[in-house]
Order: sequence, then C-alpha cells, then structure tokens
Amino acid sequence: MKTPTDIGVYQRRRARLAAAMRSGVAIVPTAPERTRNRDSHYPYRFDSYFYYLTGFREPEAALVIVAGEQAKSILFCRDNDPEREIWDGFRYGPEAARAAFGFDEAHSIARLDALMPDVIADRGTLYCHLGADPGWDARITGWINEVRSRARSGVTAPGELKDVHALLDDMRLIKGPEELAVIRRAAAISAGAHRRAMRAARPGKAEYEVEAELLHEFRRNGAQAPAYAPIVAGGSRACVLHYVQNDGVLRDVELLLIDAGCELDGYASDLTRTFPVNGKFSGPQREIYQLVLAAQAAAIASVKPGNLWDAPHRAAVHVLAQGLIDLKLLAGSLEQAVETEAYRKFYMHRTGHWLGLDVHDAGDYKRGGEWRALAPGMVLTVEPGCYIRAGEGVPQRLAGIGVRVEDDVLVTDAGAEVLTRDAPKSPADIEALMSARDA
Ligand code: GLY
Ligand code: MN
Ligand code: MN
Repeated sequence: MKTPTDIGVYQRRRARLAAAMRSGVAIVPTAPERTRNRDSHYPYRFDSYFYYLTGFREPEAALVIVAGEQAKSILFCRDNDPEREIWDGFRYGPEAARAAFGFDEAHSIARLDALMPDVIADRGTLYCHLGADPGWDARITGWINEVRSRARSGVTAPGELKDVHALLDDMRLIKGPEELAVIRRAAAISAGAHRRAMRAARPGKAEYEVEAELLHEFRRNGAQAPAYAPIVAGGSRACVLHYVQNDGVLRDVELLLIDAGCELDGYASDLTRTFPVNGKFSGPQREIYQLVLAAQAAAIASVKPGNLWDAPHRAAVHVLAQGLIDLKLLAGSLEQAVETEAYRKFYMHRTGHWLGLDVHDAGDYKRGGEWRALAPGMVLTVEPGCYIRAGEGVPQRLAGIGVRVEDDVLVTDAGAEVLTRDAPKSPADIEALMSARDA
C-alpha cells in the first residue's frame, strides 16, 4: 500500500476535526469489503471520510478521535498475519501503521468492541454517522449500552450523538493544494482518455470498444478505477441519462456522448464530451451542440467567488430555454419557459455538483435555506445538456439528438479554472482532432 508522502496533511485534518468538536469522541470506520459472489469481492474502495482523515487504504479499520486539551487519534486496523499475507499481500499491523501514518495510538481492530466503551465513557458527545450500515449502528449502540450497564461504577454514557459527517463535509468542500494536485492530474488523465476515444470512434464499432479505450488510458496512467460507470452512448441512447450498457453499435450519422472520468488516489474526475461518430457535425447536430456549448460558457462565466451555487444553473437554463424557443421546440416567452420549467422536457437535470473524493462530493448546497456562495478552493462540475427524444412537436431532423458537455471547474480568487480543458470541445477542435486520426 502507498504511504502518503506527507502524513502532516492528515494529522492537520484530524487536529481540525478535534478542534471543531471541542470535546467528545468521534468514530469514523472505513468501508466494508463487499462480496460479489462466493469468495470473490468487488474491487475494494475505502470510505472517503476515513481516507480524508487518515490516508490509510486497508479494509477493516476505524479511526477514533478524542477531542479536548489532550486530543489524540487512535487507529484500529488489521493485525499482521503472515499466513493471510501470503495470499493477500502486505498489511501494516497496528504498530507499523501508527508510526507510518502518525497516529497517537493504534490497536487491533479485533479489540474495537472491547476498548470502545472505555473510550466513550464520560466524554459527553459521540460523533458518528448512523444509518449507513445497520451492523455498525448496532455496534455503537452496544458500546453505549455497555457503558450504561456500568452506571453504578460512576461512569456516564454519551448524552448526545452528533453526525461527524456534518463537520467533515465543510472541511472537504474546500480543497487544499495537495488535493488539487491530485484532482488536476485525474482531470488531465480523463481529458487524455476522451481524446483517445475521439481518435478511436468509427462507424461500425461497438460502444464497448470505445469504453475499452477510455479504461485503457485511465489505467495506463495509474488511475485505479473509473470514478463511476462510464456512459458511452451513440445516437438516441444519449437521451438515456444513465445509459451504461455500452453495447450498441456506432452509426455514421450519429453523435456519440461519452461521460467518463477516472479516480486517482481516491479523487474523482467527471467529464463529458459529445462528438460526431464520423468526425464531422451535421447541420442539426451542430445547432444543438452550439446551444449546449453556449449554455456551458454562460454557466462557467458565472462561477466566481461570492456568486451563489445556483448561478451557473440559472445561467445555463436561460441560454438553453432561449435556444429551445428559437428552435421552436418551446412556445411562449423566455420568462414563461423559465418560470414554468418547460425547458425540463429537454433539460431535466441540474448543471453540476461538488467534485472531490466522491464524484458527487460532500458538502451542502444550501445554508439556512439559501444557496451557498462559491468560494476559492471549491471544485464543481458544469454540465448542461439537451436531450431531444422523438415525439410530438419534435421535427425529424432534431429527433434523437442528445448532447452534454461537462467540465470540472475550480473556483479561484479570480473566478474559475477549467481543469478538464485538455479535452477538445469546440466543433473546430473536435473536427481537427478527428480528421487527424484518419491521416
Ligand atoms: N457522471 C456523473 C455525473 O455527471 O454526475
Ligand atoms: Mn459526468
Ligand atoms: Mn457530473
């Protein structure tokens, strides 16, 4: 397992959490391993909150933070096991993990239930996250009941349970320089994968052949996995928002929508491009594509510190709604189309989400009922689209066209930086790259 190059980053995050708690105990477990069938597991992915605080990637581990004047962080992890390590490889074991990752204490995960009642006794508040895993909830309840059963010896069980994620979400929302370095690299790898896909696409190829090019490019650059199931959708399949079968055949006159991003060292990228299978936009394809591109440009222009979270969405909706009216796909005025949300027939999702360790990352979008203001260090996607399903009132020439353009954007002091800019998106740049592939 990779040891973090700077364990100080994680130590400082734990110290910040302890300071925000002021007192009490926090417990953050990593994700369980999941069986796929019989004795095969899904590829293991640690819990994002746990990883954010530890940098530790092994399964079967939990972090405990005791806040207060003598704040300390305690890791529970797997013991060394020479027999298992022959089969599954290296594991740190508590003592080596404590030293390598900078914890104050470390113990075997096998001792968690035995030690936790003493850790939480007389500490007031327990910060945990209930409701995600019934087995974990039951263990926490068990520790609390164990302390209660000792009441006559003078100890008190936690009187208050608080959601530890609520404190961590605000921390995770503003990315530090060490996180941005990884996010930038993930974005660049994904942009390279989309360029590779544009070069590989041909009429007659299956969508999965293009998907294979994306996955190849992710992995050969060290990204561990796709950050989500890639969408490789030819023709009208692009109008199915979560199309992931990727088993259709690409046709000459159609567009190909690809929504695919890699995960690198825990951090996601999330990137969509739409381009013609044969390398040349037709008239109707270009009309819809330019409209989405204009909506995206307006949305990105409104990404700046102080603007509300909703500003990019509102900007995109205004451009799209006007365009849909101009194309006679919507009737009435712009105000009406926006007010009644009539545009939702062709644009039914929102314009973005936070991006980080999770593809739909941690962090509230509203504060006290109001949209949150953008601030430097936040990373979000900007991803308007237009999906024209065949049906009443839709001219034949536009039916079945589905377009989305998605970039990953960092809020900077000056405004915005597009992290996925290396993936071509103007029709001219796309056509130039695709005509060069045939040379
Ligand atoms: N690929 C997931 C999303 O765009 O939100
Ligand atoms: Mn996406
Ligand atoms: Mn997205």
